[in-house]
Amino acid sequence: MKALVLAGGVGSRMRPITHTSAKQLIPIANKPVLYYGLEAIREAGIREVGIIVGNTAPEIERAVGDGSQFGLDVTYLPQDAPRGLGHAVLIARDYLDEDDFVMYLGDNFVVGGISDVVDRFRRERPHAQLMLTRVKNPHAFGVAEIGQGGQVIGVEEKPLHPKSDLAVVGVYVFSPAVHEAVAELKPSWRSELEITEAIQRLIDQGRRVESTTITGFWKDTGNLADMLEMNQFVLNGIDSAESGSVSADTELTGRVVVGPGAVVSGSRIVGPVVVGAGSVIRNSYLGPFTSIDRDCTVVDSEIEQSIVLCGACIEGVGRIEWSMIGREARVVPGPRGPKTYRFVLGDHSEVRVGA
Ligand code: DAU
Repeated sequence: MKALVLAGGVGSRMRPITHTSAKQLIPIANKPVLYYGLEAIREAGIREVGIIVGNTAPEIERAVGDGSQFGLDVTYLPQDAPRGLGHAVLIARDYLDEDDFVMYLGDNFVVGGISDVVDRFRRERPHAQLMLTRVKNPHAFGVAEIGQGGQVIGVEEKPLHPKSDLAVVGVYVFSPAVHEAVAELKPSWRSELEITEAIQRLIDQGRRVESTTITGFWKDTGNLADMLEMNQFVLNGIDSAESGSVSADTELTGRVVVGPGAVVSGSRIVGPVVVGAGSVIRNSYLGPFTSIDRDCTVVDSEIEQSIVLCGACIEGVGRIEWSMIGREARVVPGPRGPKTYRFVLGDHSEVRVGA
């Protein structure tokens, strides 16, 4: 069995971060979302992975390399534009050959991995197997309808009137039967080749499409709130580790990771918090569910429930919460005098100032 990981697309809901960076590489507890998926694939006993890449290909390739750091053998499959999940399968046809494969959406985060689903597919050998989960807003996802015997009897992409609350999670297992269905796809109303339509074709042809409904935590990391919630979830599971330097006048409470070469002084950190390698935290407060990536500076500031990307600098700005701060961004006080704000904001940035 192979895996096909989708790491193209544009990430429009995560702008401005995704203007300069792939959404699949946004760090959760200081580790790119994509890495969690690659680890789950390896755990399921799969070695050969094709990664679909779009215009952020160089960055994805830098981060994943030949896959050996994950015990994987990675091949990159360039996609000229985000023409849909079905299109990704279409262009991977030669790579996938006649093998079964797991299709894994690179921005999905599934707790508990994919081994159970993959093992079940290997045992029962349906034509396709979906992973489903109950959600409150099914119209935002692919939605499955399940028959009495538990088989999938219908799937629809982001329906206005969902027939169930079972969302399709971004992990699918396919037999080569899917290729024929994909080859017949026509662009949908959003100009994409929809994998949901290919699955519906399999069902219409009388092929067996099974599903596993998961109850554990799952996120499709579409927006800031999802990212922060996922960060919170992962940080909840960390163990304390101190490999940097923490001065005697610093108070650490709860589970805190201080990475190699990080320097923390005169501060209070209430975990769960991770401080990345080489970061400097001085005279500051870091509150629960905060990830500070490597080589950041936080001085005379308070920050809580936030993700700070590598190389950012936050100095003398009071309290920040529920935020994501991009790579090498600077948040510093304005000049003295009347209360004013000075900004240099990237396209699609969002700033919320105290009322
Ligand atoms: O997350 C689960 C949902 O994922 C499912 O419920 C939907 O049925 C499925 O269509 C998909 O919906 P999204 O609208 O969330 O897909 P998105 O466009 O965000 O793409 C998912 C991942 O695949 C993302 O990492 C980008 C990548 N991608 C996407 C497209 C359209 C590609 O690599 N190439 C593409 O052409």
